[in-house]
Amino acid sequence: MKFSQAFGVVAALLGLANAQNIPSKVAILTPKPGSEVGVNGLGWMIDVVAEFSAPLVTSSAAHASSSAAPTPSASSSPNTGGGGYRRSIANLDDGFIPFLNSPNLTTFAAGPDPGAPGFVCLFSGSTQNLAGFFELTSITNSDAKGNILEAYFTWYIPVAAFGANVNITASVFFLNSTAGATYTNNPATDPAVISNVATVSFFIFGNDASNVTAPATTATPVTIDVFTPRSGEVVGVNGAGWLVDLLFINTDLSANVFAPINGYKPLYHDNFTDPKFGPGVSKAVPGLVVLSNTSTLAGGASTNLANLFQINAVTGVVNGVINEYWCTWLVGAAFAGKGQPTSLTIFLVNGTAPATINGTLPTNIISNVIIQNFTLSGGAVTPATTGSGAAASPTSGAVALSVGAGSILLGAFALLL
Ligand SMILES: *[C@@H]1O[C@H](CO)[C@@H](O)[C@H](O)[C@H]1NC(C)=O
Ligand SMILES: *[C@@H]1O[C@H](CO)[C@@H](O)[C@H](O)[C@H]1NC(C)=O
Ligand SMILES: *[C@@H]1O[C@H](CO)[C@@H](O)[C@H](O)[C@H]1NC(C)=O
Ligand SMILES: *[C@@H]1O[C@H](CO)[C@@H](O)[C@H](O)[C@H]1NC(C)=O
Ligand SMILES: *[C@@H]1O[C@H](CO)[C@@H](O)[C@H](O)[C@H]1NC(C)=O
Ligand SMILES: *[C@@H]1O[C@H](CO)[C@@H](O)[C@H](O)[C@H]1NC(C)=O
Ligand SMILES: *[C@@H]1O[C@H](CO)[C@@H](O)[C@H](O)[C@H]1NC(C)=O
Ligand SMILES: *[C@@H]1O[C@H](CO)[C@@H](O)[C@H](O)[C@H]1NC(C)=O
Ligand SMILES: *[C@@H]1O[C@H](CO)[C@@H](O)[C@H](O)[C@H]1NC(C)=O
Repeated sequence: MKFSQAFGVVAALLGLANAQNIPSKVAILTPKPGSEVGVNGLGWMIDVVAEFSAPLVTSSAAHASSSAAPTPSASSSPNTGGGGYRRSIANLDDGFIPFLNSPNLTTFAAGPDPGAPGFVCLFSGSTQNLAGFFELTSITNSDAKGNILEAYFTWYIPVAAFGANVNITASVFFLNSTAGATYTNNPATDPAVISNVATVSFFIFGNDASNVTAPATTATPVTIDVFTPRSGEVVGVNGAGWLVDLLFINTDLSANVFAPINGYKPLYHDNFTDPKFGPGVSKAVPGLVVLSNTSTLAGGASTNLANLFQINAVTGVVNGVINEYWCTWLVGAAFAGKGQPTSLTIFLVNGTAPATINGTLPTNIISNVIIQNFTLSGGAVTPATTGSGAAASPTSGAVALSVGAGSILLGAFALLL
């Protein structure tokens, strides 16, 4: 998704570089429509990406914005509210913060997401807002002024709470202010809805996964997709609060790389729930290797960081064979530095990955090898001023949703490695 450039253009066109961005476009990356997810009803996840844009303030703004922004789907709300969030001195990011919502914290509950005020997630016919169960809230791209351009919201389902071998529907969207514990309106017509409404129907796989394996017919049966970080993006807040979001697809079903007997298992863990949470070989996805070229952790660039992914989910099952894993890591501390370019190297090996890699790549790699270059957000940005030089103020119509200035919120940040 290359929405970020489009939004940058919009901001420049409107002279609204300091405009208060709002989450106007939302998409569900997993589950995919019609897919089968999980094992025995659990171990699947919901991954949502929101693209932020300047609010529609004038008719010319509306024109520019609609020509550059993705067109919402037919079922979408009109997005004509024009209302957004209002920042205050105490809340410079309008309540949008990277947040680790551990299941061991009291904030982990039905109701609003502590890191994303207007976010609503509904399931099949229920009015209960489940946004407060999303464990990982991250800021994955910002513009040069620190305005949020993109954020991710991720929820791992650890128990068969939604049933097994059932079809189910999930919807997500954003309201113009903090959401409640329930949502009873029709989001398609509610003027308080400021994004499109993304909806997906899928099937929860309710049985054990197959352990039947055969020799691989190709040297690299696994394809890795990186959703974030992406080249050209400025991620996180002061080097933390960004996300590594990876999809692993096994294209050789008979090889069954992700068979449970190979050590693959869905898992959620973080530094509250797992006393041994730390770098090293993943307890869930044993073949995974993730290296950071600017890592300041023990062992530096040679240490495998795969065990730091909080979410390891089964996001695709075909005829009982797991064909997709999805791994997601909310980076809670600036372990790779800040305000600088950096790089991640990512691949999967056959069997168990090494804990360290010094220079030479292993010979048993069974996936593509990804070298992802991107930029870590820098130090605090001074609260933005408008083009006319007037300082942005809480009462101004076009104030900055400034990520950098959100450093005062880092106290509220559930940091972790
Ligand atoms: C789930 O939906 C699919 C596609 O509509 C359908 O083929 C299948 O029978 C449904 N399964 C159940 C258990 O309802
Ligand atoms: C949200 O939208 C509703 C409906 O248009 C409006 O009444 C309300 O004032 C808006 N709230 C904010 C905080 O903009
Ligand atoms: C992994 O190694 C095993 C044992 O050497 C082999 O049978 C299998 O085909 C390999 N899998 C892949 C995907 O290369
Ligand atoms: C596959 O093996 C795992 C243990 O490694 C087991 O829990 C599961 O039941 C097995 N699957 C089947 C279909 O027997
Ligand atoms: C997890 O990390 C955060 C930030 O470093 C810390 O505040 C919290 O106490 C840690 N939790 C545990 C259980 O160690
Ligand atoms: C987190 O909760 C789990 C499940 O209740 C419990 O087993 C574990 O000890 C808790 N961990 C911490 C660090 O509180
Ligand atoms: C890490 O990778 C980035 C992006 O390729 C590069 O600009 C930077 O120089 C590298 N740093 C080190 C220490 O290798
Ligand atoms: C890489 O270097 C570290 C530190 O020198 C060492 O402990 C480790 O065994 C080495 N790993 C490999 C695969 O050679
Ligand atoms: C990332 O940067 C390295 C050097 O810093 C370069 O060799 C590599 O081609 C870059 N990767 C991509 C995908 O641009």
